[in-house]
Amino acid sequence: MNTVWMTVAAYLIGSISFAVVSSKLFGLADPRTYGSKNPGATNVLRSGNKAAAIVTLLGDAVKGWLAVWLALHFQERLNVGDATIALVAIAVFLGHLWPVFFRFVGGKGVATAAGVLLGLNVWLGVATLVTWAVVAFAFRYSSLAALVAAIFAPFYYGLLFGVEPQLAAVFIMSVLLVFRHSKNISNLIAGKESRIGSKSKGKH
Ligand code: G3P
Repeated sequence: MNTVWMTVAAYLIGSISFAVVSSKLFGLADPRTYGSKNPGATNVLRSGNKAAAIVTLLGDAVKGWLAVWLALHFQERLNVGDATIALVAIAVFLGHLWPVFFRFVGGKGVATAAGVLLGLNVWLGVATLVTWAVVAFAFRYSSLAALVAAIFAPFYYGLLFGVEPQLAAVFIMSVLLVFRHSKNISNLIAGKESRIGSKSKGKH
């Protein structure tokens, strides 16, 4: 029973779209109406408002981290196993991708996945974030950095902890993240992807 409500609670936490919330707070247009139309930090940055983009990034990351941290913190008291932690990790991520509060139109999951990974283990999160930063710094494509980091994350988990239910969660998150970036992948191949900080995203 605990597994069920913990998974549902994680999904509801994930369903809070900080791109939409922060854009409203800062008096900006809805990020689902401009640029890539993605409710995420990269697209909010295209509005030119860095503070709103930072709030989006932190909010989406913290919700992923919080759901997993709470589940781990109360794991023994609630008498749930690693499979529940894995379900909570996937549920908060799914909430971000298909949020019940926003007609199931959500983001691509990069910041939330980063938060989930940090919640599962700080070194797992740091290794994945460093991977993101190296690619982002070298190529200045947010999407490419996210894709490479997503590919590496399950390997990092496997190397650090071996085969556990949480590895399946990380793998599923990575597959969904890559799937959500299909337009970005076509744009990257066609040389049309916009670089970090560039305001235009007319190709979507
Ligand atoms: O965080 C999402 C990023 O990887 C790509 O976003 O808006 O350029 O499609 P966007």
